[in-house]
Amino acid sequence: MSLSRVSVTAVRNLHPVTISPSPRINILYGANGSGKTSMLEAVHLLGLARSFRSTRLLPVIQHEQAACTVFGVVDETEGGPRNLGVSRERNGEFTIRIDGQNARSAAQLAEIMPLQLINPDSFRLLEGAPKIRRQFLDWGVFHVEPRFMGTWQRLQKALKQRNSWLRHGTLDAASQAAWDRELCQASAEIDEYRRAYIKALKPVFEQTLSELVSLEGLTLSYYRGWDKDRELVEVLSTSLFRDQQMGHTQAGPQRADLRLRLGGHNAAEILSRGQQKLVVCALRIAQGHLVSQARRGQCIYLVDDLPSELDEQHRLSLCRLLEDLRCQVFITCVDHELLRECWQTETPVALFHVEQGCITQTHDHRE
Ligand SMILES: Nc1ncnc2c1ncn2[C@@H]1O[C@H](COP(=O)(O)OP(=O)(O)O)[C@@H](O)[C@H]1O
Ligand SMILES: [Mg+2]
Repeated sequence: MSLSRVSVTAVRNLHPVTISPSPRINILYGANGSGKTSMLEAVHLLGLARSFRSTRLLPVIQHEQAACTVFGVVDETEGGPRNLGVSRERNGEFTIRIDGQNARSAAQLAEIMPLQLINPDSFRLLEGAPKIRRQFLDWGVFHVEPRFMGTWQRLQKALKQRNSWLRHGTLDAASQAAWDRELCQASAEIDEYRRAYIKALKPVFEQTLSELVSLEGLTLSYYRGWDKDRELVEVLSTSLFRDQQMGHTQAGPQRADLRLRLGGHNAAEILSRGQQKLVVCALRIAQGHLVSQARRGQCIYLVDDLPSELDEQHRLSLCRLLEDLRCQVFITCVDHELLRECWQTETPVALFHVEQGCITQTHDHRE
């Protein structure tokens, strides 16, 4: 699946524009501050109803404008093209339209248009808080395991109930025990889905990484959020006193993590920025392969500033892997000459020049 058309209005410095991207490789090039990242942000807004640069959406809306809007046509989906629209107003109003109907949640957008982002912040996947790695993991599980979402919602509800009971103790013991059973059941299911996902991801990640960079001995492992040898119900009962003191539940899938280690060290502590970028790319590309295998559609990749931190050889390897995914990819760079020799002749590559907020197509993939 890919975007065959994208229309953007009032996103940061971008002038209103409609582009017809290539179903495969799209390169946005131009000087610093011209609006390249803003265009990726616009596509991100369409797929997730939020930006990647700020959790608050206000800065995305162009100065002096009341709202920003992105429309897109997604092709190659089951049942024909889908029309998506996302608009965000300054007063906080938010509209998501799917095929002419208002949609309730951004998860519906994510289902139609799975996105993978690789940008200069991506190394946070390695060195940031566990929450970032859980989000990465759950993104993958969400897209390959249809039962995940429902179980995840059950887990959140049971966890909220337990945490409130820990703090205020309002429920009687029998009712809380029933909630705890629900919590343990949902936790076991989430753990099972995550475990199965990591089992599938690991070999694809290792293969992808080996094609990008030689990091002998780098390992990816999964921590489920509680002791691997004990049942959660037992862990919860032995940690009850501490949980009550802290006011929340210490163990469970809400504490899960992924661990990347190299020679007994946390990979984030010893790898160079460039190596970290390649590890993150391998993780995200591996996820894309799994999503393609599990469903008919593929994901769309947004790669902000692809050449940065990478030498010529690693640039080339990364481009090859992105090309092999057979996905739609939006890449930004200052100098597109750096990426000129990276594609096979039959791959449709479209070039867009971004200049002071204006986007002009300088090479059409159909030519
Ligand atoms: N809300 C906004 N309204 C108008 N311009 C903005 C807004 N937010 C950021 N900008 C400007 O948009 C420009 C484009 O930024 P960006 O897309 O990050 O450029 P690039 O990625 O090409 O270096 C910057 O010059 C920035 O000052
Ligand atoms: Mg940028």
